Amino acid sequence: MRLKIHRGLMSAAGKDGWISGSLESVPKETAEAVVIGAGVVGLAVARELAAKAGREVIVVESAPTFGSGSSSRNSEVIHAGIYYPPNSLKASFCARGRHLLYEYCRHHRIPHKQIGKLIVATRPSEIPKLSELMSRGVENGVEGLRMMDGQEAMRVEPELYCTKALLSPVSGIIDSHSFMLSLLGEAESHGAIFSYNTTVIGGKYEGGRLQLYVCDSKSLRNWDRQSALKPDLILCPRIVVNSAGLGALPLSKRIHGLDDRIVPTPYFARGCYFTLSNVKSPPFQHLIYPIPEDGGLGVHVTLDLNGQVKFGPNVEWIDGTDDISNFLNQFDYSVAGDGANRFYPEIRKYYPHLDDGSLEPGYAGIRPKLTGPMQIPSDFIVQGEKIHGIPGFVNLFGIESPGLTASMAIAEHVVAKIMNESHKK
Ligand SMILES: Cc1cc2nc3c(=O)[nH]c(=O)nc-3n(C[C@H](O)[C@H](O)[C@H](O)COP(=O)(O)OP(=O)(O)OC[C@H]3O[C@@H](n4cnc5c(N)ncnc54)[C@H](O)[C@@H]3O)c2cc1C
Ligand SMILES: *[C@@H]1O[C@H](CO)[C@@H](O)[C@H](O)[C@H]1NC(C)=O
Repeated sequence: MRLKIHRGLMSAAGKDGWISGSLESVPKETAEAVVIGAGVVGLAVARELAAKAGREVIVVESAPTFGSGSSSRNSEVIHAGIYYPPNSLKASFCARGRHLLYEYCRHHRIPHKQIGKLIVATRPSEIPKLSELMSRGVENGVEGLRMMDGQEAMRVEPELYCTKALLSPVSGIIDSHSFMLSLLGEAESHGAIFSYNTTVIGGKYEGGRLQLYVCDSKSLRNWDRQSALKPDLILCPRIVVNSAGLGALPLSKRIHGLDDRIVPTPYFARGCYFTLSNVKSPPFQHLIYPIPEDGGLGVHVTLDLNGQVKFGPNVEWIDGTDDISNFLNQFDYSVAGDGANRFYPEIRKYYPHLDDGSLEPGYAGIRPKLTGPMQIPSDFIVQGEKIHGIPGFVNLFGIESPGLTASMAIAEHVVAKIMNESHKK
């Protein structure tokens, strides 16, 4: 089955861009399972549904291709699972996801490397925080954690300055594009259909059926923002997974019949990266992380598999765009060159020999957050029927870091949840 996108149906007047008028004339199509968003999480869910659970899957993605959202704008680190509160979804999905991911990478020859990570205290006053991280990591079951004194760590990493370090040997890096390509291939070879340039703009739950309003992304991009939006197609699936990343919350708010009160307020935090230029070889062998800061893990050192060194991401709280721009991923991803001025002092705390002028603007990503500045970080949210009362529907909210590491565990959990809840009937 091919998703048919019918054009030329945008018409009639409406106020705030919300769908108005009759939808009688809009073509309807049934489907077994629809996954919204082809980021790493949507791809992992599609693979799990198609390859493991044998479902007929349609993946609807607003962009021209897969993985162009947060999934290609991150540190590409396979996280160990140290930081998260014990028993949180982040902790358990990170641990399980890391095992699944390493296994998958080995089996499918995805470029990756378990290079290990050092979390460093650069002042004596940071040492208690490092000890807290150690106990938390141990509680979360992270293997092989070990404290090093400053001397030892600086012997291992001659360019590093620190007073104490926590070594996490199971942390690593991955070529996330190859990983996504492999998930995509597996999903497709089990019959999953990918409909790119296709945006879900809302929906309705009525009479026990969920309907998704689907639009051609190109017409949405050209939409004058005044005339009413009318979907090109209405999809009526039995299973829907909302893995729309930064678009997941605004989309949920646009599903009539879903209780608004269970949809949290979205917050957005941009993170910028700078790359290291003018170096013959990377100054570090391990990932180097400072003590975490509010909203992120601190401006850290990441190495990619080509030996490029990047620093980042910082935390810049931004206002979201309007919903439609949000679905179309029309965020400001530019990295201002003068931002480097704030990076130098941060980085020199642990890398004192960083040369002036060696940082070049890299790229930026945006974290889909569920709490704002200075608030306690929230956990991933996975909402199924038990919470919103809609059978076969799962919302994924706040899938920020470690979402890449956790992706296969999230997929496993989501699909098991759907199968479980549908068996109970
Ligand atoms: C700066 C930064 C650094 C990070 N570093 C790491 C790291 O080192 N390790 C790690 O494990 N994790 C990391 N993460 C987290 C990780 O990148 C994300 O958790 C993960 O990529 C989320 O994947 P996703 O599929 O949920 O979202 P996305 O990749 O954003 O995919 C969502 C997709 O949905 C599409 N979409 C949106 N709305 C609609 C709609 N209405 N209709 C159709 N399609 C829609 C979008 O176009 C997009 O392709 C980082 C994140 C950021 C931002
Ligand atoms: C999606 O849209 C882009 C840009 O408009 C276009 O170049 C591309 O061919 C389209 N892809 C598909 C699969 O329709």
